[in-house]
Amino acid sequence: MSLRALAYVSHVVGPWDRMSLDGLIAKAADFNSEADVTGVLLFDGHRFLQYLEGPEEGVDAAYHRVCISTSHSDLIVLSQGPLARRLVPYWRMHWLLADPGQVRNVAHADWMGFIRSERRRERPRSAMEHLLSYLNPHVPA
Ligand SMILES: Cc1cc2nc3c(=O)[nH]c(=O)nc-3n(C[C@H](O)[C@H](O)[C@H](O)COP(=O)(O)O)c2cc1C
Repeated sequence: MSLRALAYVSHVVGPWDRMSLDGLIAKAADFNSEADVTGVLLFDGHRFLQYLEGPEEGVDAAYHRVCISTSHSDLIVLSQGPLARRLVPYWRMHWLLADPGQVRNVAHADWMGFIRSERRRERPRSAMEHLLSYLNPHVPA
């Protein structure tokens, strides 16, 4: 089965607390589970940065729900395209509190091709390397 991935940033609408975000993400994870989609959401209090991966129809269906949500605005797709293997297989959807610098670093990094270098580097270069370095401490054992 061929896999696709999509990443975007958006601006939050209205005030958000942990409980409401937990509720939104629980619903998202339910849908993603049916659609075989996995991914993660960074939230810095003002901006969301979400990464979705899975079969094309699944990612399209989840992203459609994202697009019609009134909880955020000004969506900008950072990248979308084919993926060789899942990079975040452990979460149907999971949100992490990030600082604005982390969201900025991921958003402004190189999104060409969802490439994750197999070489160990002192500092991440591609957007996925940045994102995965932020996820690392939270990844379930
Ligand atoms: C930042 C954000 C991320 C979301 N992620 C997903 C997702 O991964 N899968 C999904 O099916 N829906 C996702 N949604 C849609 C929500 O699950 C829900 O359908 C939507 O927020 C409800 O509409 P409302 O926000 O206008 O009340 C997301 C919504 C937002 C705002």
